[in-house]
Amino acid sequence: MKVLTVCLGNICRSPMAEGILRHLARERGITITTDSAGTSDYHVGEAPDRRAQAAMLRKGMDISDLRARQFTANDYHTFDVILAMDADNLRKMRALAPNAELAAKARLIMDHAPTHPLRSVPDPYFGGDAGFDDVHAMLTEAIDALLTDVTQQR
Ligand code: 4NP
Repeated sequence: MKVLTVCLGNICRSPMAEGILRHLARERGITITTDSAGTSDYHVGEAPDRRAQAAMLRKGMDISDLRARQFTANDYHTFDVILAMDADNLRKMRALAPNAELAAKARLIMDHAPTHPLRSVPDPYFGGDAGFDDVHAMLTEAIDALLTDVTQQR
């Protein structure tokens, strides 16, 4: 299974999601390919935001190897599942889909955590460190559920 996580800048939420995904998959012995991207080109080539890296390290997860890139229409061919961090980015991603069938690969990551009160992961970029810990917690809930679904489907 190939999973892509997507946000706006690809330096905060989606690299955190990618880091949690690969960490939890490895822990559970699930083989997956992961990547992340941004709908904007604002931070292409950059490592994750220092605050995102620090929040991840507080949970024992290192994402210093990741580099930002922009989401492209070709990602619909490469990945099986494409997880948007929020409704605004999902709209931008759907607008790039080559056709309706491929567009259906894109969904909100929080759809995997239906009992969580938020459907979109709040952008932590303009806030403080606590926002990054909140993002980590909600992403962990959704990704844990996603991996449980994947295991049960096998
Ligand atoms: P992200 O956060 O989409 O979670 O990576 C942001 C990073 C940068 C900007 C906005 C959001 N920016 O406007 O530069």
